[in-house]
Amino acid sequence: MDKLATEAAALKPLAVIVTFGALSVFYFVGLIIYRLYFHPLSHVPGPWYNKVSRLPHVRHIVVGTTVDSVKQLHDKYGDVVQISPNEVSFTSNTAWQDIYGFRTGKHKGHLNMQKDPVWYTRSPTGQSIITADDADHSRFRKVLAHAFSAQALAKQEDILHRYVDLLVNRLKETLSTDERPQDMTEWYNWTTFDVIADLMFGEPFGCLQNRETHKYITLIFLSIRALRMGYIMSYYPWVKWFGNWIVDKKSLAGRKEYYNWVVSRTQTRMDRETQRPDFMTEVLKNNGKKDAELTTTEIYSNFGVLLTAGSETSATLLSGLTYLLGKNPEVHQKLKDEVRGRFKNFGDINCKEVNDLPYLLAVLQEALRYFPPVPTGFERRVGPGGEFVSGCFIPANTAVCVSAYPAGHSERNFKDSSLFVPERWLNDPRYAGDKKDSIQPFSIGPRNCLGKNLAYTEMRLILAKMIWTFDMELDPKSANWFDELKCMVLWNKPGLFVKVTEVARD
Ligand code: HEM
Repeated sequence: MDKLATEAAALKPLAVIVTFGALSVFYFVGLIIYRLYFHPLSHVPGPWYNKVSRLPHVRHIVVGTTVDSVKQLHDKYGDVVQISPNEVSFTSNTAWQDIYGFRTGKHKGHLNMQKDPVWYTRSPTGQSIITADDADHSRFRKVLAHAFSAQALAKQEDILHRYVDLLVNRLKETLSTDERPQDMTEWYNWTTFDVIADLMFGEPFGCLQNRETHKYITLIFLSIRALRMGYIMSYYPWVKWFGNWIVDKKSLAGRKEYYNWVVSRTQTRMDRETQRPDFMTEVLKNNGKKDAELTTTEIYSNFGVLLTAGSETSATLLSGLTYLLGKNPEVHQKLKDEVRGRFKNFGDINCKEVNDLPYLLAVLQEALRYFPPVPTGFERRVGPGGEFVSGCFIPANTAVCVSAYPAGHSERNFKDSSLFVPERWLNDPRYAGDKKDSIQPFSIGPRNCLGKNLAYTEMRLILAKMIWTFDMELDPKSANWFDELKCMVLWNKPGLFVKVTEVARD
């Protein structure tokens, strides 16, 4: 009897383990069957492993291969694909309007799709134009838009010229004593960050002057990378327990330090009484007009966002474009012919004239298709009741987006999508079937890019002045630069080494 009791007691923990194991297997098998066959997204194409678990997608987010993996899924499954248990990616042109467009026409009466809070986390200083809900967003945008109007941009032209000329002159000086290939990602970053800091704070970072990346620019890059952790921790809160191992603490701390610095610089500019044609003059002049007013704290958080949004993106595009020109000598030659043929003197190059260079505009447009600076999708959540996106019913609370890089590289949208062909934007009949509206690098609708015109003007001016002044040739160590890129929310770029030579002129 005693022996029987002892054996029974010994079996008890085993029974608990077996029961727990059986229940777990039952739960997970049930979950898999549910997600594959009964989930409201079960009709959406996609690989079974992405439907049942988020981990395959998270792995790509962590290692920086999201755009390649989502592109491959679209190549295999078509314009609509499920990339995780509650996320659907699109590459069709009609999806833009359905997800991001103004609520007019067939969308009248529907609510705007809201930004997915998993990706859009508020900054340490508070809500900004990027993260705010619709009511705050329209208040922020009404005031900030004054700094980006056509009149404001015309007044900002001198500031743009000052830094583009400084780029060219500092590069010339450097080349006179240093014949080594130059890291063009640095030079473009220095220029666009100096421009934006001057437009915001009334003084540059001093990168071009010192030929050095400012400490806070490095922190900006770290804080962008940290956004990935926000996504992962929203779905797997236990990741926080692993503290320093997994959570990029350095990036999170850097983010805080960076925002403190933005606050002090913004306040210093606000205290300075001046009418210089920068963002702050426009914001202070118009704040409180037409029922739209920003508090001082809201000015801080919005300026923090402008600094990031307005610099890294343009510099990224110019770096990618320089690489693409190096890889496509015939395109490079046509561009040189156009720019050097149009302007006799460097001083003739201005914002108005560069808007009238058809080949240069086509080259930039093709670069935005081939290498979009915001390469992933800008995720939104479907509202109550669900919505049809590109003809596919998507239930409420699903995260949806058009994936920018996969859309631009889809053969369904662009013929010869892996080739760099500016002619497709110049009515070349070979590309008449391209669905040009399937890429929207600046997005569309109420949340589209506020700095689009500034970005175009800045990129056109830099490109025209660089092409006029220098010949550029890829250094062999950057021959496969695209293969080294990682997508860490935005592109994580290694150095782009280019042999730069000043064009000899009489
Ligand atoms: C090549 C350069 C640029 C590209 C490709 C680009 C792209 C974008 C995209 C795709 C969005 C929408 C993001 C979303 O929905 O989450 C956006 C928003 C925004 N961008 Fe840009 N951008 C560029 C340059 C600039 C510049 C120079 C500025 C000016 C400082 C700027 C300021 C903004 C702002 C303020 C928003 C938020 C607008 C809103 O929500 O109302 N961007 N940009």
